[in-house]
Amino acid sequence: MIFSPTRNLAIDLGNNNTLLSDQHTILLSEPSVMVMNEINHKVEAIGEKAYEMFEKTHENLRPVKPLRGGVISDGESAKKMMKEMVHKIGKPSFFTGGFNYLISGVPFDTTPVEKRALRDTLEQFTAQHTHLVHEPLAAALGMGLNIQEPEGKLVVDIGGGITEVVVISLSGIAAFQSIRVAGDAMDEEIQDYFRRVYNLAIGLKTAEAIKKKIGCVFEPVASADETLLVKGKDLIEGVPVSKVISQVELSRVLERPFKQIEECIHQSLEICPPELAGDIYKSGIHVSGGNSVLKGLPERFAKIFKLPVHVDPKALYSVSNGVRAILSSPAKYKAILM
Ligand SMILES: Nc1ncnc2c1ncn2[C@@H]1O[C@H](COP(=O)(O)OP(=O)(O)OP(=O)(O)O)[C@@H](O)[C@H]1O
Ligand SMILES: [Mg+2]
Repeated sequence: MIFSPTRNLAIDLGNNNTLLSDQHTILLSEPSVMVMNEINHKVEAIGEKAYEMFEKTHENLRPVKPLRGGVISDGESAKKMMKEMVHKIGKPSFFTGGFNYLISGVPFDTTPVEKRALRDTLEQFTAQHTHLVHEPLAAALGMGLNIQEPEGKLVVDIGGGITEVVVISLSGIAAFQSIRVAGDAMDEEIQDYFRRVYNLAIGLKTAEAIKKKIGCVFEPVASADETLLVKGKDLIEGVPVSKVISQVELSRVLERPFKQIEECIHQSLEICPPELAGDIYKSGIHVSGGNSVLKGLPERFAKIFKLPVHVDPKALYSVSNGVRAILSSPAKYKAILM
């Protein structure tokens, strides 16, 4: 007897975080990383457990990050990681007919080859309907915006590998710019700063932790009293040392990646058709993605663009929540499903 499939799955396979949900709730949210055992060629760990092992492994354990710049850069690893993650939430068996709808976000600025790599990753799961949806559109839905009306909406998604800026109207993208400058670039900037200025080597995990704890992108709101003790290795002496960094200093370090992101926003506003620009003047900028929660971002964008700034209070879940909304009524969003 063949059962009809009942399970639907929304996927946000992000550069840094992977989220799996059904139409009701988030089922899994884990870092997009894994560790391979080089002796038996098996997956040693995925997600949170693998992230803890990162930068602390030895030659028998190989850390793997299957995505770069927001897209799959290592297809085989992406397949393995997704297989383990879907297994973790309880993959439907052959007898229950697999998935019904499987909908995954994909950055707007992707090549056909990059889209193919994502489809290949998804094809290992049996599903009646497999679709891709552009992440900025999903993020807009996740933020509760009506993407179907003839009203321009400016969405900026600052993820881990890619920042995408789009103007949405009538379920489509009327103007866009993207840049491979996002969270990873900020972490690298922090790591590089410690090396250049203090001869202090720190890992990327430490750089990211500094950003999350005291990160700020607008000096006027940064606090000089907000400081953090950073531990690393002295590059000259080779011994473990520590250094205190303040939020004010960090806001200067993050200046460069933020200028690049703002240039991207300026360009999309420049190419935006005038009627839609008029709408954006009223509705402002809608910001999503993990790095949008950085302190000072609303004040900084408001000063530079002279527009209202709305940061999604659930910025890490905007795309996932949007794909979930599509899962609940696929027919309504048929126009944006690929
Ligand atoms: N509290 C926080 N403060 C600052 N940055 C944060 C915070 N929490 C997460 N981040 C950053 O958000 C990024 C991850 O965000 P998100 O999950 O939206 O990215 P992603 O979807 O995996 O990447 P992409 O959209 O590029 O594929 C990382 O760079 C992480 O360092
Ligand atoms: Mg994302």
